[in-house]
Amino acid sequence: ASHAPLPEKDCSSITPPYSALVKKLGQVRKLLNNRPLTLAEKILYSHLHDPEKSLAGGGQIRGEAYLQLSPQRVAMQDASAQLQFMSAGLGKCAVPTSIHCDHLIQASTGADADLQRSIVSNKEVFDFLESAARKYGIEFWGPGSGIIHQIVLENYAAPGMLMFVPDSHTPNAGGLGLLAIGVGGADAVDAMTGTPWELKAPNIVGVHLTGKLSGWATPKDLILHLAGKLTVRGGTGRILEYFGPGVFNQSCTGLATVANMGAEVGATTSTFPYTSNMRAYLIATGRGPVARAADEAASQGFLSADEGAEYDEVIDINLSELEPTINGPFTPDLATPLSKFGSFIKEQGWKDEFSAGLIGSCTNSSYEDMTSVADLARQAKGAGLTTKVHTSISTIGVQVPFLCTPGSEQIRATMERDRVTETLESVGAVVLANACGPCIGQWKREDKTDEDNAILTSFNRNFKARNDGNRLTMNFLASPTIVTAMAFSGKLSFNPVTDKLVLPNGESFKFSPPSGEDLPSAGFTPGEAAFYPQPMPEPQPDTQVVIKPDSQRLELLEPFPSLFSDGSLELPKLKVLMRVKGKCTTDHISAAGPWLKYKGHLTNISENLLITAVNDEGGEVNVAFDHDHEPSQPPTDTIPRVAKRFKSRGQPWALVVDDNYGEGSAREHAALQPRFYGCAMIIARSFARIHETNLKKQGILPLWFAEKSDYSRINSGDIVETIGLAGLLRGEQDAKIKVKVTRRSGEVVEIPLKHTMSSDQLKWLQAGSALNYIRSQMM
Ligand code: F3S
Repeated sequence: ASHAPLPEKDCSSITPPYSALVKKLGQVRKLLNNRPLTLAEKILYSHLHDPEKSLAGGGQIRGEAYLQLSPQRVAMQDASAQLQFMSAGLGKCAVPTSIHCDHLIQASTGADADLQRSIVSNKEVFDFLESAARKYGIEFWGPGSGIIHQIVLENYAAPGMLMFVPDSHTPNAGGLGLLAIGVGGADAVDAMTGTPWELKAPNIVGVHLTGKLSGWATPKDLILHLAGKLTVRGGTGRILEYFGPGVFNQSCTGLATVANMGAEVGATTSTFPYTSNMRAYLIATGRGPVARAADEAASQGFLSADEGAEYDEVIDINLSELEPTINGPFTPDLATPLSKFGSFIKEQGWKDEFSAGLIGSCTNSSYEDMTSVADLARQAKGAGLTTKVHTSISTIGVQVPFLCTPGSEQIRATMERDRVTETLESVGAVVLANACGPCIGQWKREDKTDEDNAILTSFNRNFKARNDGNRLTMNFLASPTIVTAMAFSGKLSFNPVTDKLVLPNGESFKFSPPSGEDLPSAGFTPGEAAFYPQPMPEPQPDTQVVIKPDSQRLELLEPFPSLFSDGSLELPKLKVLMRVKGKCTTDHISAAGPWLKYKGHLTNISENLLITAVNDEGGEVNVAFDHDHEPSQPPTDTIPRVAKRFKSRGQPWALVVDDNYGEGSAREHAALQPRFYGCAMIIARSFARIHETNLKKQGILPLWFAEKSDYSRINSGDIVETIGLAGLLRGEQDAKIKVKVTRRSGEVVEIPLKHTMSSDQLKWLQAGSALNYIRSQMM
């Protein structure tokens, strides 16, 4: 195959400044006594704002030092980062930035109709984003252009760079050998205002890959397998750096899938050394100049680990031994090898059927994925698998509704040109708009609305109610090829590697392992030019950014008040709103689906605060106790209503939460909303990284139990007071923090706590939020 590339683009704004990075790396090497460095360290340290300050002393950096980083690019998905940037008062972004409209397109009947409906129903938000982009010189990718992470991989990502996106699946871009870190919207605002962004230096896990994927095993199976090994917490505070021969025989887009789902184990990000397949992908996507510059940087040792670099842990995986894996339901780390999946279903007593297959999303909609599934469709069609059972849309092929979300206009157009779309549709697939769709709950599902059922997806996340809003839907994650092959059976126990299907003529048919092409032999076609923004537009400061005063979708952000305004260095007395039990992801704290339309309107979206969280006192969902209720008010109510009562009384409050609180999406509203209602402190058994930082950014103090068993010693209605925060704020290095709890009975106990607040983060807390602090520094 010739892999005819797209014409070369002007790459001046997307090529990393390699000579400056290599030069800074030289400075860093001296500071670290020339010890061998991992690739992740090289990329991080070469983006330090001030290496002398961050690496002072050259001692233990990983897991200890706070790094002040300056990224090269920001991409963002929705209004919240934009609204925060606007309130910082600058005229243009300090680094190249793009906006992407991918979350608000609801999947219903198919791409064109869904997109048109979404443009009408979300016009106000899209117009706001477009006008803000024009005003500040931001590249605007409108609705239908694609999913942010696929667009970033196709257009902006480059080996060795550091970039931020306020979304947890940002690491997808790591498939091109860079560090792409999912952050909160307020962190993105740091980068957009040129403020160095702080990260506690992560530990680095080396994932050593040998062998080669074969048969039905795909890169998705590698990460599903690894998620099972590491669990949803295994990557916390760590970067996954892959190395070894098994990296070099995988496609760039396959590596992106692996990096994408590093988010599922909580990793800060994932990366790989620069490979010839990355080079080929850059050239195929019109970025020859980036490839040539990366070649040069690689020859100077920048784009791979040094010989002898040490990892904090090494995990060995032989790709030749991997088999397809299916993860779920309800958590991405419950991994079952395909060969055992049928018996797993039987043991659980679940029905041997599933009700929909969904492929695509930012995780798995590469050309390789799509041509592989088309190969299976062709095999099935060729064999005469023609039974129609489920829907008027389908006349042949799959046994369950089968939906496909292309990741970008480029993928969609190339699929169409190469008749991949036609092949999928001919077996019953419905191709949706180039957007997140069902992956983020934007799925107008008409069947199974409130009943037990199972779905198979090639997406990355499977928390309850994530895709269709039905908490009873069991969501299993698998590779696109396994989802597709199983869709021809409709049974969860069907193993396409070993099992046969019965054809209408009574004969049996077995799929051959699928084969796809990583790059299109006729090259990519970009598709409709209207979907592409002008690169690096000049700001147009006269542009009016319109927010109607009575808007239900957009609302300007009011700065949060400082909690220390009376001159005290301890937080005011806080009342405990509730003790949250068990898994509490950002989806539990701020649900997606229909709520996404309010992402630009903090008052309206806050009505969903913690509505799927479980109260540890009583075990009920969305129930909180109001011990100070008025006679006219019920003593228990929904969580948002009780939080609103606290706010109306001027009563600041605290939450007590369980392990890995805030895992999942980078959803910033999960921090903005509690703060909006008056939350000042959250005490956890442990926090997920992005969410913990988001809380700090919005002026909420996150604290950890020193002893996890103390979790159940604080109850709703208790008064909690910090002791020792003043010492931290005064800069006393070894200040200890604890909390004094006054129970409703009057009994007083003290509970030791831990914190991860850096000196800068303490300044945000004092100012009321990071944005307040940035604004004060700019005056
Ligand atoms: Fe990706 Fe969009 Fe789903 S960014 S994870 S496809 S919500």
